[in-house]
Amino acid sequence: MKVLIVGSGGREHAIATSVAKSPRADKIYCAPGNAGIAQIAECVPIGAMEFDKIVAFSKEKAIDLVIVGMDDPLVGGLVDELEAAGIRAFGPKKNAAILEGSKAFSKDLMKKYNIPTAAYENFDDADKAIEYLKTKAEFPIVLKADGLALGKGVLICQNLEEALDGVKEIMQDKKFGTAGNRMVIEEFMTGREVSVLSFVDGNIVKIMSSAQDHKRAKDGDQGLNTGGMGNFSPSPFYTKEVDDFCQKHIFQPTVDAMKAEGRPFKGVIFFGLMLTPKGPKVLEYNARFGDPEAQVVLPRLKNDILDVMDACIDGTLDKLELRFEDNAAVCVVLASDGYPVKYEKGFPIKGLDAFDGKDDYFCFHAGTKFDESGRIVTNGGRVLGITATGRDLKEARKKAYEATEWVDFENKYMRHDIGKAIDEA
Ligand code: AMP
Ligand code: GLY
Repeated sequence: MKVLIVGSGGREHAIATSVAKSPRADKIYCAPGNAGIAQIAECVPIGAMEFDKIVAFSKEKAIDLVIVGMDDPLVGGLVDELEAAGIRAFGPKKNAAILEGSKAFSKDLMKKYNIPTAAYENFDDADKAIEYLKTKAEFPIVLKADGLALGKGVLICQNLEEALDGVKEIMQDKKFGTAGNRMVIEEFMTGREVSVLSFVDGNIVKIMSSAQDHKRAKDGDQGLNTGGMGNFSPSPFYTKEVDDFCQKHIFQPTVDAMKAEGRPFKGVIFFGLMLTPKGPKVLEYNARFGDPEAQVVLPRLKNDILDVMDACIDGTLDKLELRFEDNAAVCVVLASDGYPVKYEKGFPIKGLDAFDGKDDYFCFHAGTKFDESGRIVTNGGRVLGITATGRDLKEARKKAYEATEWVDFENKYMRHDIGKAIDEA
């Protein structure tokens, strides 16, 4: 098979690594990819939003499967365009990717189908949102830009003043662009967060091993929300009891709801859950693998990933047994100091060879590129995802942190408490 992966982050590197393990994969391309992906795939200089070029390239190379990793092209309808051109693609169509593309849509869906989530109101008018905050709100309260905002469009406001500033940022100053044309105001929930990624074939859902992300930039969950600073899998807090509840009230009901709405979902649904004192509730849906969740979950997948993707596309997931290694993985993100706000890039990365030939260590590239002289340099806020597997979470964490010392670049920044929650389990 000839496979094209669309995207350029650590998630796409993890997907490419899984695809490369498949005996069915003869050739892997990635658009646009990065310096790490280039070691296992041929990177082509086509942006993830250049739909015409992606379709033309897929035809020219007779690509058998296009895997769309990122949210923007999914929400923008890349899968629809590929299918219209007769090219097989993995990922939801536009009318299903809206599950991630519009938080107002997803909240309304959950309300309509009784899927547990935080109480909320949607607003498309800043004055009405301000009025609501002044008269009805209880604090803390959560403001969410409706559209895609790189995981950063969520503001937790402790008091009215912060909330009014938040409305200004999202709806008036348009800090997150058109994502802020609408806004969700929702109840603040407390509890532990768990990420559950799942494969969906339009009819049924099969979950992958759970994970826990660390979204804030600084140790102790301080600082701004980021795309994710590291994570671990499985989550010891995702117990049998939690799983039973989620299977019954959240996972399959979501897939059924999308089907009932005439928006059958095929691809990956990422359930962002909060284990509240009143039971698990949905924080958010994503229509794709998480990043860095993919970096701890995919190295533990025992199936041939291409078989699983085929089953999702063909609607035969019921015939497939999804299997994971009985081990654990921890990923620590090495970022550029200053992420997610302002940071310098272009610094050479040293020590990458240390990962060569080691099966239980992975150095997933998130923001890297080759400079003019062919050196691998930093090229983003999140630079590398250092993942290690181990017999259990403690061993995996120890190994992942050891491996963070193998590589170096100017500006290197990481959290030192990824997986600290393991000690409380
Ligand atoms: P989201 O992108 O919706 O997952 O939000 C990003 C992060 O904000 C989540 O991972 C939570 O840590 C936090 N968050 C979002 N919604 C809520 C909520 N209703 N209550 C408490 N925290 C929230
Ligand atoms: N790590 C969270 C996300 O991919 O949205």
